[in-house]
Amino acid sequence: MAFFLAVANRKGGVGKSTVSVMLAHAMSVWGGKRVLMMDLDSQCNASLILIGGQGWSEARKANRTIADYFFDLFDGHTMQPKDYLLPGVGDVAGADGRAARISLLPGSLLLEDVQGELFLKQAQQTNDPDIVASRVRGRLEQLLRRFEGNFDVVILDCAPGLSFAALAALKTADKVLVPFRPDYVSQLAVDRVALLIEGRRSLNDLDEIPIDRRRYICLANYVREANGRERTLIEEIALAHPILETRMPQRDGIANAFDWVAERRGIDQKYGNAIADVRKLYTELAPMLAQKVTA
Ligand SMILES: Nc1ncnc2c1ncn2[C@@H]1O[C@H](COP(=O)(O)OP(=O)(O)OP(=O)(O)O)[C@@H](O)[C@H]1O
Ligand SMILES: [Mg+2]
Repeated sequence: MAFFLAVANRKGGVGKSTVSVMLAHAMSVWGGKRVLMMDLDSQCNASLILIGGQGWSEARKANRTIADYFFDLFDGHTMQPKDYLLPGVGDVAGADGRAARISLLPGSLLLEDVQGELFLKQAQQTNDPDIVASRVRGRLEQLLRRFEGNFDVVILDCAPGLSFAALAALKTADKVLVPFRPDYVSQLAVDRVALLIEGRRSLNDLDEIPIDRRRYICLANYVREANGRERTLIEEIALAHPILETRMPQRDGIANAFDWVAERRGIDQKYGNAIADVRKLYTELAPMLAQKVTA
C-alpha cells in the first residue's frame, strides 16, 4: 500500500514542485522506494523538472497526462491506469547507475478545463451543486488511489489554487507537506491550508487537534540563515503548527535542480551545494513516510 504524500500550500512559488521532485529523487535513490509523482498543477513544473520540455510535449501529444487520465477513466473506461504513466523518469541515476525508480503521471495545461467538464457532466444528473462537487472530488480521489498497489510512495504536487484535484489530493494524503517561505504572508497561508487539510473552520477549532496529531507538517524553505526576522517568523509558525526541524536554505544547488538535463547523473551532482540539505530533509521525513509503507 503506497503512502500518499501531498505537497501543498495555497501560496504560489514556495517550493512545492522543487521539494516534491527532490523527495522523489531522495526516496528512490536513498530509500530504494518505488515512487510515483502525480503532477496536479496545470503549470506542469514537476513534469518539466522530471522529463524536460520535449519529454512533456511528447507525453501531451500521446494523451498521457493527468487530464487525459481523469477524463478517460472518470466513467470507468477500459484503459489501464498504468498506460498513462511514464516509468524511469528524472535526470538522476539510481544506485545501480540505471534510471531511478520514479514514474510520472505528467501534468496538463488542460487540467482545469477537464475538471470543469467533469463538473458539468455530473451536473446533468442533479441540480445540487454540493452533491455534484462532492461526487467529482470523490471520483478523483478514487482515481488517485488506483495506483496505491504498485508504488511505495505517491507524491502529489498540488497547484496553489483550490481545484477539485487539489481537494481530492488533500483528502487522499496520509501526510501533507506544507513548504512555506518565511515572509509576512506565510503565517496566513499556512493557517489557511491547515484549516483545509484538517477540515476545521477556525483556528480555535484547529487548536483542538494536538500538534503531533495533525495530518500536515510544515517546511521552512528559502531560508537565509543570517536573517533574524525570518527566524522569528518561523518560530511564530512553529507555535501553532507542526514543523520540520530541517530548514531548507536558499541555495544555487536547489535553484539549478529545476532544470532538467538530458544525461543522468548522481543525486550529489544534481543537487550540488545543497546535497547535505536534501539528505537532512530526507532523513527527517523518511521515518514519517515509512509508517504506512511497512504497515
Ligand atoms: N531553497 C531554494 N533555494 C533556491 N531556489 C529555490 C528554493 N526553493 C525553490 N526555489 C526556486 O523558487 C522557484 C519556485 O519554486 P517552485 O516552482 O518549486 O514553487 P511552487 O510552490 O511549486 O510554485 P507554484 O505555486 O507556482 O507551483 C523556482 O524557481 C525554484 O527553483
Ligand atoms: Mg509548483
